[in-house]
Amino acid sequence: MILNRIHLGNFRNYETLDLEFHPKLNIFIGRNAQGKTNLLESIYFLALAKSHRTSKDKELIRFNQDEAFVNGNITTSYSNLPLSLSVSGKGKRAKVNHMEVSKLSQYIGHLNVVLFAPEDLNIVKGSPQIRRKFINMECGQISKVYINMLSGYQKVLAQKNNYLKQKNVDRVMIDVLNEQLAYYASLIILKRQQFVDTIEKYARKIHADISNGQEILAVRYKPNIKYEATEVGALEQELKALFQETLEREIERGQALIGPHRDDIAFYINDFDVQTYGSQGQQRTTALSVKLAELELINEEIGEYPILLLDDVLSELDETRQSHLLTSIRNRVQTFVTTTSISDINHAIMDEMQALGIEDGKVKV
Ligand SMILES: Nc1ncnc2c1ncn2[C@@H]1O[C@H](COP(=O)(O)OP(=O)(O)O)[C@@H](O)[C@H]1O
Ligand SMILES: [Mg+2]
Repeated sequence: MILNRIHLGNFRNYETLDLEFHPKLNIFIGRNAQGKTNLLESIYFLALAKSHRTSKDKELIRFNQDEAFVNGNITTSYSNLPLSLSVSGKGKRAKVNHMEVSKLSQYIGHLNVVLFAPEDLNIVKGSPQIRRKFINMECGQISKVYINMLSGYQKVLAQKNNYLKQKNVDRVMIDVLNEQLAYYASLIILKRQQFVDTIEKYARKIHADISNGQEILAVRYKPNIKYEATEVGALEQELKALFQETLEREIERGQALIGPHRDDIAFYINDFDVQTYGSQGQQRTTALSVKLAELELINEEIGEYPILLLDDVLSELDETRQSHLLTSIRNRVQTFVTTTSISDINHAIMDEMQALGIEDGKVKV
């Protein structure tokens, strides 16, 4: 999938901008606060009809203006599609192929993106909660069943916690809820296991590429419940028994103690735990490899690579890792990268890319 061009109007600090993109690699170079991330954000917005850094669409509109828009043109293996999105005080309007769509769900999904921003380091360094959020987002993108199971689980879990907090605990009711939890949890756990295995397969290869074969990455699912079953029915039975065993302790503590709401993922490089012992560069490479594995997952899913947005990633990697990164992805995936200085960029790849200087919401070619 390729984003051929983009046209911005009153988006963040861009008054108007009309750009054609290179099919392989586009690098946006500029000092701080010039509009590099804003430009990536506009592409992300064009794809997903939301920003990656604010939930308030209003912030995307240029100061003292009423409406912002992003138009773009994408080429996939079977179509050439104009997309258009605008945001004003009245909300968002979206067009696919010049035709307005009534629901954003009809709009999202035409342009697929994967974004890696500095905050994504938290996939490795942050709390288990951040990793669960990551895994839920990713599994949800590729499995509607997962989304349903997760929301079912969360609803019943909240009910169970309510019952556990009461003075006279209704054990019959909790048994009923535990049965439901076992059903939802068995599917969630197996999907997560499957997802982590797939991510590991791809991330390991990418990590080896970036580190020039020096580092072997392992990604491990750390389920809160230790289980033996390998299929849903058997796991459901196993979980039911475990929930029963734990009930008295849960009543004592007044909360649900076991289940996928306490799962985690761990990362290892050459068998040491990256979260505890990894250098900053190793942690960043791990997070990046895991995120880039998404490119492969999406390709598996829709038969086409999404476009890739890399915000402020180069300066954090040494020169070898940078050039391995850029050479390993640029032949498969159209990539957009921001950086503060051109010296960051390896000269071996200078021939097949477009470098654009960004200054105060304008582009200098
Ligand atoms: N809605 C807006 N209207 C006008 N300018 C904005 C708006 N939102 C952010 N900016 C400006 O954009 C600049 C930051 O751009 P950004 O793309 O984050 O910088 P960088 O080049 O460092 O990635 C700041 O100067 C900020 O004031
Ligand atoms: Mg930035």
